[in-house]
Amino acid sequence: MNLTADEQEVVAWLSQRNMLPSPELVERVVAHPNGLGWLEQSLLALDSPQLFLGLGDLIPEPEEPTPIVCEATGALPPVIIQRQIGRTRADGQLQSYVALFNDRFRTLARLVRRDPAMRDASGLRQVDPDGESTVVGMVAEVRQLQGGRVRAVLEDPDGRLAVMFGEADEASHNLLHDEVIGISGRLSRRGDMLFANGPIVRPYQGRAREPGRAAEPWTALFISDLHIGSNTFQQAQWDRFVAWLNGDVDYHREWIPRPGYLVLAGDVVDGIDSYPGQEAELEITDVWEQYAVMQRELEKLPTDIQIIILPGNHDAVRLMEPQLPLPGRVQERYPPGVTFTANPAQLDLAGVNVLCYHGKSFDDLVSLRDLTYDKPILMMKELLLRRHLAPIYGSKTPLAPEDQDHMLIREMPDIFVTGHVHSCGVERHRGMLLLNPGTWQSQTDFQRMMGFQPDPNRAIAVNLQSFETQVLDFN
Ligand SMILES: [Fe+2]
Ligand SMILES: [Fe+2]
Repeated sequence: MNLTADEQEVVAWLSQRNMLPSPELVERVVAHPNGLGWLEQSLLALDSPQLFLGLGDLIPEPEEPTPIVCEATGALPPVIIQRQIGRTRADGQLQSYVALFNDRFRTLARLVRRDPAMRDASGLRQVDPDGESTVVGMVAEVRQLQGGRVRAVLEDPDGRLAVMFGEADEASHNLLHDEVIGISGRLSRRGDMLFANGPIVRPYQGRAREPGRAAEPWTALFISDLHIGSNTFQQAQWDRFVAWLNGDVDYHREWIPRPGYLVLAGDVVDGIDSYPGQEAELEITDVWEQYAVMQRELEKLPTDIQIIILPGNHDAVRLMEPQLPLPGRVQERYPPGVTFTANPAQLDLAGVNVLCYHGKSFDDLVSLRDLTYDKPILMMKELLLRRHLAPIYGSKTPLAPEDQDHMLIREMPDIFVTGHVHSCGVERHRGMLLLNPGTWQSQTDFQRMMGFQPDPNRAIAVNLQSFETQVLDFN
């Protein structure tokens, strides 16, 4: 029997678990976009261990996310939510963490293997003792040694392997815990360490491409981090933005979206209990009142603007990512034409693929060499490079044990927007547009103490047909 590479993968995966599949089962699993994930969930559901596995042992087929088409306003194509967490399945069980990490490893390992040099990569326990080896693993430990070399430990579902990087290997200095990489090298004589002798291979980045473009020159505006309720919210500048949207201010009129989209990338309110001593810096101390004020502000906008709101770490949802959309008690009072999404969320705006993520994981990335809060674009590139929105588990970005990894960048977007760091940046990168619009909050006491100067009161406008951009300044 001639098996395809995908079929071989399924058979090998099961044989590592001492199981033999029927040909029908292999066929079904291969045909499913997340076949191995489905198979793994099915094994967890088995009552007792068994040698032979048939179609009847599969649990009902998990569904790929169904796009949610939101209500359209006028001529503008409706907002389509392509992918986001639907409901939480986090139960805190160890098994869920295992499923989460297996999904991450499997998806990213497959993307690493897209590199021709990694096509024949072996498992960490099958390294050739005498020759050149290529392996794919998740970084479990990473340490900089005296003299500047980096030593890491890689992990896959079957084993662990220590790796020593060469002195000149710059990329090894920016290795992150829990990212998935490919390495080629030679095993030490004792067989306990792989000496890397090739470049670190990261997950496939997709072809640099012409971004998807809208059929008409629709405008999308991007803003983030309003922090309504904080005593540093910039009311006067915000009022100017609202007046501009209504055509009452003579400034870049060509960018007023009539109709168009407005994306709010999280931290729409300041929240309460977000950090110690926050109360002293709040204008509005009731979080629901903060959302009510937000609602009244959005009601001042022209009705042919479709608004999309995702939560951030200051909003009234769980801190663990992925974050669910704002609760019903907030949503129900808002005007129609406002779409509430999860964080992260992948949207289709007039045919343009927009990945929205608030950006909490920048708090982890900032510890990397050459990365700072005032250069958000560089941090966004690091996320794209790892095809993951929150690569480090167990540090400053809490992750929920969902049964699949919603933080994976499964598809490279046309537009990638983040917030959180309160500084503004725009850049074209491999055919994508990277945006971080900034904030509507002036410097806080904490930021002054840290010597951080925010970029408040900016919106980034994008022509979804031409991909021209404009930073609009309401100071
Ligand atoms: Fe913020
Ligand atoms: Fe934030």
